[in-house]
Amino acid sequence: MQILEDHTVLVTGGGSGLGLGVARHCRAAGARVAIMELAHDKVARLREEFGDAVLVVQGDVTRLADLQACRDAVVARYGRLDALIGTQGIFDGNVPLLETAPERLDALFDEIFHVNVKGYVLSARVFHELLRASGGAIVLTTSTAAYAADGGGVTYTASKGAIRSLVGQLAFEFAPHVRVNGVAPAGIANSQLRGPRTLGLEGQQQSDIPKDAFLGMFRSLSLMQELPTPEEHGPLYAFLASRHNTIMTGQTVVADQGLLNRAVLTRQA
Ligand SMILES: NC(=O)c1ccc[n+]([C@@H]2O[C@H](COP(=O)([O-])OP(=O)(O)OC[C@H]3O[C@@H](n4cnc5c(N)ncnc54)[C@H](O)[C@@H]3O)[C@@H](O)[C@H]2O)c1
Repeated sequence: MQILEDHTVLVTGGGSGLGLGVARHCRAAGARVAIMELAHDKVARLREEFGDAVLVVQGDVTRLADLQACRDAVVARYGRLDALIGTQGIFDGNVPLLETAPERLDALFDEIFHVNVKGYVLSARVFHELLRASGGAIVLTTSTAAYAADGGGVTYTASKGAIRSLVGQLAFEFAPHVRVNGVAPAGIANSQLRGPRTLGLEGQQQSDIPKDAFLGMFRSLSLMQELPTPEEHGPLYAFLASRHNTIMTGQTVVADQGLLNRAVLTRQA
């Protein structure tokens, strides 16, 4: 039996990178899959890749009406939902606070927090009823930036810390019917994580960084030496999304290839 057999899974922010890899894995693991994605070009590519096999919904997770429309589309197509996997996110460009013009901070904060935090809160509210009915699960995406400094600037790291706390609060409020857990990845290969519009960095993507440079930086910090692909994160998300997880709620799994487990007294060459 496959781990997600007889499960319906929605991946929000599944148009590229982590979410797309997780969605592909969930499908291969037996799930009926729906994907919600903001970017129209990615939506078109998803429809090309999956055809009718996956329900693809264009929408913005920061807009209540879009989430409600997505919920209605999931119900119309599949009649139920067993797991909500949230993967959407944007980066803050790693610009230090003191190099950010004070006049920009208000808008920068709102832009990052709307996608990285509000989107998850709204999704949890909108999909709760379906998940309660199925005894389902929520899996949210934070980052090692929630655990250690310098994984981004102040707005990105604060937003990822908020998700870490949100996992605990939602698990508490939704127990015992809906399990809620998080995943904190470190580096991800093939990510298109983009910068903030507020700082004029929306055209910058993680994938613009030359692969060798990114891998070199990752290897100098991490115990495991290969950047995981989005698909390699799939089995972890699939377990947390599945009914086979009868043992965890309110936890965040740090899936960081040993990044945070740094040597104290010795240093590898
Ligand atoms: N890239 C990394 O190294 C890394 C490391 C740790 C954590 N993360 C986290 O992993 C998650 C996935 O990031 P990724 O690296 O795969 O980036 P990505 O940009 O490839 O994927 C994120 C997707 O979310 C979509 N999205 C953005 N705003 C949205 C909105 N308002 N509504 C719906 N969809 C929206 C984007 O269009 C994109 O398709 C993010 O939460 C990110 O913070 C990434």
